[in-house]
Amino acid sequence: MLRRLQPFAFGVLGVVVALVCGVAAQTGQVVFPEAEGRSTLMELCGGCHDVRATVEKRKTQKDWKTSVADMRAKGASATDDEAKVIAAYMTRYFGLVNVNKAGAEEMQAVLGVSEKEAGAIVGYRDAHGAFATLDDLKRVDGIDAEKLEREKASIVFSGS
Ligand code: HEC
Repeated sequence: MLRRLQPFAFGVLGVVVALVCGVAAQTGQVVFPEAEGRSTLMELCGGCHDVRATVEKRKTQKDWKTSVADMRAKGASATDDEAKVIAAYMTRYFGLVNVNKAGAEEMQAVLGVSEKEAGAIVGYRDAHGAFATLDDLKRVDGIDAEKLEREKASIVFSGS
């Protein structure tokens, strides 16, 4: 009887282990998307602290530039070009943008939208006033609503 139950018991154990590991992976893991700047970041920003500690907080394009400059002052050995690439990577994947204040270039840098899309957002804002919600933003002509949905963690509407 016990023998016949064993496979069942292991099956249940397997499911429990898989569930626990799944939850751990979701909470503990930071994803650094594969893109230009990632390898430079991994190489130059993990020496003094865990590289994951660098992205605990999202920052604006300006604040990422300042933060990378601060780290160079503290001793991070990045050239001007490497600093630019790291700041651009952070801005793109761990950025924040106020869509009611930012210019087109900043929107492209944070949201990864095209020049045309960024221009359309600014044009719509000029014509209709501040955006209050993500749905407002998705109403802009020619905008990729799904892309905006994926980027919603980077979008702020304050200061309208
Ligand atoms: C020479 C050591 C050193 C290197 C290399 C380094 N850091 Fe830091 N970093 C520190 C120290 C020390 C702190 C904590 C003190 C502080 O908050 O300024 C810190 C804190 C931070 C913080 C949290 C504070 C903030 O500004 O929000 C961020 C983000 C950060 N580092 C990003 C980076 C990035 C990006 C790189 C790669 C360009 C990097 N660090 C490389 C020493 C380093």
